[in-house]
Amino acid sequence: MSSEQSSMPRHIGIIMDGNGRWAAKNGLPRSAGHARGAEVFRTICRYCEKIGIEALTVYAFSTENWSRSADEVSAIMNILRRYLRDAFNQEGETIRVRFIGRRDRLDSDILSLMQEIEDVSRDNPGLILNIAVDYGGRDEIVRAAKEAAEMVADGRITADEIDEELIDSLTFTSCCPPLDLLLRPSGEERISNFMLWQCAYAEFVYMDTLWPDFTPEHLDRAIEEFRSRNRRFGGR
Ligand code: FPP
Repeated sequence: MSSEQSSMPRHIGIIMDGNGRWAAKNGLPRSAGHARGAEVFRTICRYCEKIGIEALTVYAFSTENWSRSADEVSAIMNILRRYLRDAFNQEGETIRVRFIGRRDRLDSDILSLMQEIEDVSRDNPGLILNIAVDYGGRDEIVRAAKEAAEMVADGRITADEIDEELIDSLTFTSCCPPLDLLLRPSGEERISNFMLWQCAYAEFVYMDTLWPDFTPEHLDRAIEEFRSRNRRFGGR
């Protein structure tokens, strides 16, 4: 460890990848990989809260994932349903749960569950957890651009007043600290339309482990790697 070590990341993003390969490796259906992935997600959320991470954003379902087989889409949605009913309904819950992404293509019972969880957890003091469902980074930017255009059309601002700060305030994560660390397990080294705006100065850490095999020790290792980096934000 160098004495120049940077501080802990305040906001971590995770692409929970490798569920399908984990299932194939273990001779199981893909849905079993997603179910196991949801359990790991629960463990990692709790761990992030324990070590004092302020915000965690996870990619659960992308705007492109609808093109998977109907069986797989419905398996993921069922896991989400079950998970949303059980996971954040405990006494003494401290995590503030938010959902980011489109809200016009999900089943109405899932939308109601999301709304309910957001409402009951809104004032919780702990980790801010953003669960990205039907989320795409490009979609998020288009949405922000449209909103800015409407503000200009309504006369609330002039076109000149559209700047980075305004666009940032129109993203889903405007209430969170800037994204510090983007983590992708499973060996893939792609951004896959995740948090494109927020990634501007995030550090990327890729790991070979498949998400269902991911443990708090892997997260510790990624944080250690993050802390060893020299972040310059475009300066010297
Ligand atoms: C990527 O693995 C994973 C997904 C597309 C779904 C992630 C969903 C969960 C972890 C479960 C539900 C989430 C919550 C928050 C309860 P992949 O299927 O692309 O794996 P592969 O690349 O090995 O095929």
